[in-house]
Amino acid sequence: MATQTPHPHWSSRLAFVLAATGSAVGLGNIWKFPYITGQYGGGAFVLVYLLCVALVGIPILIAEVLIGRRGGKSPIGSMGGLAREAGVSGLWSGVGWLGVVTALLILSFYSVIAGWALAYIGYALTGEFTAAPSQAAPAMEALHAGLLASPGLLLLWHTLFMALTVAIVARGVRQGLERAVRLLMPGLFVLLLGLVVYAALSTGAFGRALAFLFRPDLSRLSGEAVLVAVGHAFFTLSLGLGTMMAYGSYLPRQVSIARAAFSIAILDTLVALLAGLAIFPLVFAHGLAPGAGPGLIFVSLPIAFAQIPAGSAVGAVFFLFLLIAALTSSVSLLEPAVEYLCEERGRGRLAATLAVAVAAWLLGIGSALAFNRWAGFAVFGKGFFDLLDFLTANILLPVGGLLIALFAGWRLRRETLQQELAVGARGFALWRWSLRYLAPLGVAATLLYGLL
Ligand code: PHE
Repeated sequence: MATQTPHPHWSSRLAFVLAATGSAVGLGNIWKFPYITGQYGGGAFVLVYLLCVALVGIPILIAEVLIGRRGGKSPIGSMGGLAREAGVSGLWSGVGWLGVVTALLILSFYSVIAGWALAYIGYALTGEFTAAPSQAAPAMEALHAGLLASPGLLLLWHTLFMALTVAIVARGVRQGLERAVRLLMPGLFVLLLGLVVYAALSTGAFGRALAFLFRPDLSRLSGEAVLVAVGHAFFTLSLGLGTMMAYGSYLPRQVSIARAAFSIAILDTLVALLAGLAIFPLVFAHGLAPGAGPGLIFVSLPIAFAQIPAGSAVGAVFFLFLLIAALTSSVSLLEPAVEYLCEERGRGRLAATLAVAVAAWLLGIGSALAFNRWAGFAVFGKGFFDLLDFLTANILLPVGGLLIALFAGWRLRRETLQQELAVGARGFALWRWSLRYLAPLGVAATLLYGLL
């Protein structure tokens, strides 16, 4: 039970911002955001999503990092510790537990999809993205269908991706997480900029992509679209499950939480929008449908890659970009539970990492099989994978975020908050107002409306 491991810290503000941005930028930005934007109508959906990030996301992000730094422990320990400090019920540590379980659920299917990125890097390098123009669509559909139909391949890539995640997390905060993001995040930005420049210069459809993303048609907005936009704001900022608390617990005291949170949210949003500007021009230039669904970047994009000059190289760069983004997120899904086991249960870092990763890996097998053997199995019309995705992003994360907002807004003492968050009186009042009223009411209303 004793906590022998000394509590580590990020070496600088930049290291924290890189790590937290690495967590935020992931499959959510590059795989999910473009396809849900396509499905829920483009500009109007983007507008709601941006509002959610600004009005609800940023205040909760600040609250999570604050709770983590003040508590200095895993999400479970920090929530419990701060509840004690504030003299309120210890049951609040349940929010930490909920988060750890949610992270495990997300990691399980996240690793399966990230495994596709590994597979697709291989396809690009072995020349699979080549076909006669008339054959490109059926060939790329067959490639994707072939991958999904093979439990063996899916499990192989799922296992490999989880192993990469473990290799980073097991090395610890400084040697593992921080070193990885210092290496990977600059590469991520360079690859993304290269892809956007390519889309702007060579597709001839950049203007259409801009209009699709930024010209809202509010008549296309449904209740479900709003629920998905709220859920996605949480998912993309890694909120509602304690990831940002865990990363905040390693934050040195002198760093301004508010400034860091704004940097993280702005970078994350920029990457999502830029990813859209890299992907949609290709989709439109080749007459493909923006609303193609989860296959958008795994089918539509390769169809485009097959028809452009140097398509294999562009494809390899794209999927490498996706892989890096996913890896700097998956490590952050593992970290909260590992931090708990190491610091509050006295386990070794490697043993803790392996234990959590194996649990997520086992659960991930279900998602891998959902695409083939278990394709017939459905609850509420959704298969195992869709169910996990819907349950986590659209229910568990918003509920977690709601509870965190209530805890920080109504339970923590004003002085505690002010000590941690050195901002002006106006900014502080606005932030607290959002946590007390706007975020809880907004999230509760969309949950009720979207679900009923
Ligand atoms: N934010 C990540 C993404 O957009 C996913 C994630 C969610 C990571 C929750 C950590 C915690 O892909």
